[in-house]
Amino acid sequence: MTNPAFFQVAIDGPASAGKSTIAKILASNLHYVYVDTGAMYRAITVAAKKAGLSYEDEAGITALLPSTTIEFKPGNPVQKVFLNGEEATEEIRSTEITNNVSLVSSYAAVRSDMVDKQRQMTEENPVIMDGRDIGTTVLPDAQVKIFLVASVSERAERRYKENKEKGMDVDLETLKKEIEARDYKDSHREISPLTKASDAVEVDTTGMSIDEVVNTIQDLIQKQQ
Ligand code: DC
Repeated sequence: MTNPAFFQVAIDGPASAGKSTIAKILASNLHYVYVDTGAMYRAITVAAKKAGLSYEDEAGITALLPSTTIEFKPGNPVQKVFLNGEEATEEIRSTEITNNVSLVSSYAAVRSDMVDKQRQMTEENPVIMDGRDIGTTVLPDAQVKIFLVASVSERAERRYKENKEKGMDVDLETLKKEIEARDYKDSHREISPLTKASDAVEVDTTGMSIDEVVNTIQDLIQKQQ
């Protein structure tokens, strides 16, 4: 194992476990760059939609990759995401994209292209990267690896509140089913399925406040610095 030139924190876990909320706060506290890899898979899913492709069209989506650019820009409360120079911050979170991103992210060419892009983002700054395969595949030498989990009910409730704030009305049972379906697909795909890295620390956030989770992880990071 070689120590990366810049400090790396990997946060993995299932949908709606709170990864991005926690990673964003930690990145701001520690002045690290935050990389939301789920947003990148969502962006390529939007690219497929914009190109008029079926989400099942692996060859067509693969062909889009060389000409697709994904950029992050600072924004509040969420980073802005640009797909081929056009803002796609809201569209990447739409229900249609959320329900199809697991399929698009299972394609080998999509994964290898995203992993290359994600590794490039670690070359000049310390990073906190969240996703499903960061500790296992993207940054195997990360100094700190966290596997963030929470019960399905709590994750569905968090998503429900977020949706409500955005004016979206999806009932709790449907959200639970969608989360369970995404967990299953993300954990059972062939390439880099969602699994806890052997050297990751599992943090169960069920019943924990955001501050408690941030403090727990920040302590772990400070011990490694
Ligand atoms: O974290 P998120 O819910 O925004 O991620 C959206 C989807 O992207 C998730 O269902 C699976 C996929 N994903 C992935 O396969 N690998 C990652 N590192 C991050 C996300």
